[in-house]
Amino acid sequence: MKVLVTGGAGYIGAITASALERAGHTPVILDSLLSGPAAFVTGRHFYRGDIADRGLLRRIVDEHTDIGATIHLAARVVVTESLARPYEYYRDNVARSLELFDELQRLGKPRLIFSSSASVYAPTEKFEVSENSPIGPQSPYARSKRMTELIVEDLAAAGELCALILRYFNPIGSDPDLRFGMYVREPSHVLGQLVLAAHGQRDAFPITGTDYPTRDGTGLRDYIHVWDLALAHVAAVEQFDAVLERSAAATAIVNLGTGRGVTVRELVAAVETVLGRSVPTREAPRRAGDAVGAYANVDRAREWLGWSTQYSLLDGVASALAWAERREHVLGYP
Ligand SMILES: NC(=O)c1ccc[n+]([C@@H]2O[C@H](COP(=O)([O-])OP(=O)(O)OC[C@H]3O[C@@H](n4cnc5c(N)ncnc54)[C@H](O)[C@@H]3O)[C@@H](O)[C@H]2O)c1
Repeated sequence: MKVLVTGGAGYIGAITASALERAGHTPVILDSLLSGPAAFVTGRHFYRGDIADRGLLRRIVDEHTDIGATIHLAARVVVTESLARPYEYYRDNVARSLELFDELQRLGKPRLIFSSSASVYAPTEKFEVSENSPIGPQSPYARSKRMTELIVEDLAAAGELCALILRYFNPIGSDPDLRFGMYVREPSHVLGQLVLAAHGQRDAFPITGTDYPTRDGTGLRDYIHVWDLALAHVAAVEQFDAVLERSAAATAIVNLGTGRGVTVRELVAAVETVLGRSVPTREAPRRAGDAVGAYANVDRAREWLGWSTQYSLLDGVASALAWAERREHVLGYP
């Protein structure tokens, strides 16, 4: 099947495109290169432009009439930036997505897979969240994801779209060929910072928050190998209609995680295990806006998509460290 992949020059999009190719599908990438690097679309059907450019969308569908589904990953994704620049987040993630959805429907391409986020869930003391857990996004970024989910649900209920909403937890690592990975020069996320400290590019890795109500006091996340995440999209594309039938609704929401919570200290230990040496750390206060964290209940992903993760935390960490070694060769910067 041909699959339109918006945001296909980005971290998850480029790797999802690889998984689609390996499964015999053809990705068609639409990306403005707002953040994703041009090197990540080499050799692929690629259209540079905005998701809300209706003329461009018409041209893409004209040139690829056999597009069978759209995976909509394109978005602004930096939580801290969204606090400082909410307008850009609501405009790009919400308003422009609305234009995209309307044009897809007009073009007779109603099958949509929307990239949402675990950040839409309300903070919870139980840590495990299922698709029915309370909603409570804590940042403009997370609210933009939730608003777009609601738009998708309303359009689907009106018969304009059929949609799978995938709520990703915390992807780490690279693809099996180490062609794509985290490309941001100054990563704000925990594993990116850990890799910098491990390579001596930082004095010490700051463990921000040691008084959370977790087993060792540090924040907890559900780190999913990005290749597992990419494979979930292949399952979603291939079983799209069957999943909607199972959900008995016009929209199906599915968590994509491992089902296991890992604390920051456990993540540090995983990096040390893979590297075979210790990583300098220092304890620091909680960062504003950080949540204690959560992990996914993945029953629905297993039952509806027939998908579950195959890779371990150590696999994901090893993949991220291997990509860090490889990155300069691919992108020209360490
Ligand atoms: N990385 C994560 O931890 C994570 C977690 C949960 C959900 N998600 C979601 O997954 C998706 C992909 O995230 P990512 O980490 O790969 O981010 P990314 O920034 O690497 O990729 C996003 C891509 O979208 C493109 N883009 C942004 N706005 C655009 C627009 N208006 N028109 C066309 N292209 C545009 C960017 O150039 C970039 O290549 C996002 O929707 C994000 O919200 C990511």
